[in-house]
Amino acid sequence: MQQRYFGNTGLKVSVLGFGAGHVGAESLSEDQAGTLLNRAVDRGVTLVDTARGYGLSEERIGRHLSYRRHDFILSSKGGYGAEGADDWTPPAIRRGIEQALTRMRVDWIDIFHLHSCPLETLRRDDLLSALDEARQAGLIRVAAYSGENDALAWAVASGRFGSIETSVNLADQHSAHSVLPRARERGLGVIAKRPIANAVWQFEERPAGQYAETYWERLHQLDLNGVREQAGLDWAEFALRFTAYQPNVHSAIVGTANIANLERNVRIIQEGPLRLDVLTQIEAAWERTGKTWPGEV
Ligand SMILES: NC(=O)c1ccc[n+]([C@@H]2O[C@H](COP(=O)([O-])OP(=O)(O)OC[C@H]3O[C@@H](n4cnc5c(N)ncnc54)[C@H](OP(=O)(O)O)[C@@H]3O)[C@@H](O)[C@H]2O)c1
Repeated sequence: MQQRYFGNTGLKVSVLGFGAGHVGAESLSEDQAGTLLNRAVDRGVTLVDTARGYGLSEERIGRHLSYRRHDFILSSKGGYGAEGADDWTPPAIRRGIEQALTRMRVDWIDIFHLHSCPLETLRRDDLLSALDEARQAGLIRVAAYSGENDALAWAVASGRFGSIETSVNLADQHSAHSVLPRARERGLGVIAKRPIANAVWQFEERPAGQYAETYWERLHQLDLNGVREQAGLDWAEFALRFTAYQPNVHSAIVGTANIANLERNVRIIQEGPLRLDVLTQIEAAWERTGKTWPGEV
């Protein structure tokens, strides 16, 4: 598994990361969660991304993965949900980080994101200072922002963050076009979330009211099926190779609760970037149809 320098942070991350959102689901047994987390790291998928809001995810990382802390890079998110603190206050940051360390049974978090807060919250100096203090105290290594659009652009320009996490996939290219070139110039690490567009191709019908609905609509409008068939790839491979080999992305954190899909993604990533003629056709479809679409949180 290729490991890449994560901007100027001094960290290295695997090109395929592990989105540990699904690992937080109660429908998954402890055994299944532990097997998934460890299989990922065994395969060199060494960036593990979680958040306060992902159900049992953080505590399962503590239970099943923390014993091998030096084998992986840990990314989490917060700003909310800290016991004894109001959301989006300095204590919510500081105590939230301390509580996450306890839940995950680790001494430090490598990358800690303010999780999808709007621009007016993101700009608050008291919150940014709380993040700086956590970094100076060694509780986190990199202060980061996870989000989209204006807030993401501000985070990159502000100089207050070492890395960002944002949606990058076939159906969501706003950040890739408008923000990531600047992030690279400034030496920020970049994590691509929702990298295979929530695998929306699996839905025959529009998934009304579900998280993936916007991507389902967009993928239909982009009409990339012919390009994909011509490339001779199934959807998972077409989507993952597109995102993981974007010039300004360091790691694509695919979410899965399925060990076979994890193994498949490890194999797909070895195939490298899509062919240039395929990328050119995807680019043309985006220019024709998608270029005004905003990033989706
Ligand atoms: N910061 C934020 O606000 C934010 C928001 C969204 C996501 N994220 C992060 O990004 C991670 C990934 O995002 P995501 O899970 O929403 O979207 P995603 O990775 O684009 O798609 C996940 C979906 O793809 C399926 N899948 C995975 N590998 C597959 C394969 N080889 N073939 C077919 N289907 C496959 C999974 O189902 P199976 O379980 O069946 O494999 C799951 O339904 C999350 O876990 C989280 O860490 C962050």
